[in-house]
Amino acid sequence: MNVRLARAEDLIGMQASNLQNLPENYTMRFWIYHLMSWPQLSYVAEDHKGRIVGYVLSKIDEPDEDNPEGETHGHVNSISVLREYRRLGIARKMMLLSQDAMEKIYGAAYCSLHVRKSNKAAIALYKETLGFEVAKVEKKYYGDGEDALYMRLYFDPEENQNS
Ligand SMILES: CC(C)(COP(=O)(O)OP(=O)(O)OC[C@H]1O[C@@H](n2cnc3c(N)ncnc32)[C@H](O)[C@@H]1OP(=O)(O)O)[C@@H](O)C(=O)NCCC(=O)NCCS
Repeated sequence: MNVRLARAEDLIGMQASNLQNLPENYTMRFWIYHLMSWPQLSYVAEDHKGRIVGYVLSKIDEPDEDNPEGETHGHVNSISVLREYRRLGIARKMMLLSQDAMEKIYGAAYCSLHVRKSNKAAIALYKETLGFEVAKVEKKYYGDGEDALYMRLYFDPEENQNS
């Protein structure tokens, strides 16, 4: 299994993998926008035939008019691994690579993400393996009315403890 930076030619495979694994799907325009805007943040896992079996799609959010006091941070839009390739450490590896680029290349203070309250596997990955904390619960965040946990991992461990 090879985990590497995502390239434009991977986008079809990433979208296909997303359609197979998650109910939150996006237009090709969305995938292209993220890859072109933040080319160092998204990763794929490919099998020996070069088939995309997992991806993480991430972006950077910067302080803006709506949130002038906010900190520059990374945000994981979507991550998934095809069923037959799960529990091999692929998601962990892709997350660590993306987080590292957020911090080192973009100077991000933390990484954030949303996850369904019922998604035990993903919550275990974020909390137990990667050290994310739940910052808040966003009620009815998903289209079907399910709540989201908004989770955050500060790259400075001291800040993570205080957050
Ligand atoms: C969540 C997901 C991305 C994890 O991918 P993965 O490659 O299997 O994860 P990893 O192998 O890197 O797992 C790392 C750790 O996360 C936790 N974890 C992963 N899957 C788990 C599961 N099914 N149950 C409990 N813990 C789990 C474990 O602590 C695991 O470490 P371990 O295998 O040493 O016990 C994958 O299950 C998936 O694609 N799910 C469907 C899409 C999805 O829910 N995406 C997240 C949306 S927010």
